[in-house]
Amino acid sequence: MRRISKDGMAEDNVASIPDQHGETTAEARAVAVAATIARKAVEQADHAMRNWTDPTPGPIHIGSPEHLRMFSNMLLQTHNPYKPAVIDWPQLAPDALRRVTSLPIWDIAVQTEGRASVRVHAFAGTVRDPLLRSALEMDGDEEARHKVVLSKLVQAYGIPLEPEPAYPVPADPEWGWLATGYSECIDSFAAFGLFAAAKQSGFFPEALVETFEPVIQEEGRHILFFVNWAAWYRRSLPWWRRPFYTLKVWRVWVHLIRERIGIAKGIDTGDSVQDANFPMNASGALTESLTPGALIDLCLVENERRMAGYDARLLRPDFVPRIARLVRRFVK
Ligand SMILES: [Fe+2]
Ligand SMILES: [Fe+2]
Repeated sequence: MRRISKDGMAEDNVASIPDQHGETTAEARAVAVAATIARKAVEQADHAMRNWTDPTPGPIHIGSPEHLRMFSNMLLQTHNPYKPAVIDWPQLAPDALRRVTSLPIWDIAVQTEGRASVRVHAFAGTVRDPLLRSALEMDGDEEARHKVVLSKLVQAYGIPLEPEPAYPVPADPEWGWLATGYSECIDSFAAFGLFAAAKQSGFFPEALVETFEPVIQEEGRHILFFVNWAAWYRRSLPWWRRPFYTLKVWRVWVHLIRERIGIAKGIDTGDSVQDANFPMNASGALTESLTPGALIDLCLVENERRMAGYDARLLRPDFVPRIARLVRRFVK
């Protein structure tokens, strides 16, 4: 029978832990209650990172101070305080371990997170608004935490890594932030679908998918934050600066497209390769059983699902999904 403790926690498992004489000890009960509380805390943090609505009612004007407050608070208040050091990496069966360790993504994934962290922090240092600045600092901290998570993962599974390069602070912090933001818009959209494909096909075992899941959702929060920042920032510029800013955004996109064409052709384009996230490298291994069209459909569905829990008044990343829908018309 389901029992509820004084603090309202379910104790289904607590009563069923007998001691060596077949009776439940106070110590065993305390351990089980602590485990239940810890599990509930993890579930609540996970729910909170995926679902957020600003309590202020009514419409907001994109580009207004209210908009700035809303997208900054979205990032700050959906932060999941998990600690990479305590992640319990699941033991993998030999075939699963072979699949995970043979993916050609770990070096570029670790380096992408390291570079993103430096770039986001560099841009945060240029921002005067205290709320926006703290949101950007949290974004940069989360990138640094992704790098630690990945480092722990490769350690746990014995994956050898190349020595890491230096991550220089960009001469133009705004350019570095734009390159990271738009790069994440492309790569997160692809990662949503690839991650779901790896889960559905069993390429990644369930336990590993669950362990890594918060990192993927965090990238979803980052691109939601970024597209709202980009819309707010454009509107906050004086009219005479907008053409220069638009030109800079186009330069960033040309850079990102060129580096991805370089990767597709297997060309080492030097520094530019380093912006590329792991989905480009992972796609072949993870999607053998999927047609390109089915993979695009999966990316679109997952993108919708991951964005669904956030305040509907915030803008959604729509440029990459629109391109994907266009490409989908010509791909089987
Ligand atoms: Fe990241
Ligand atoms: Fe990110």
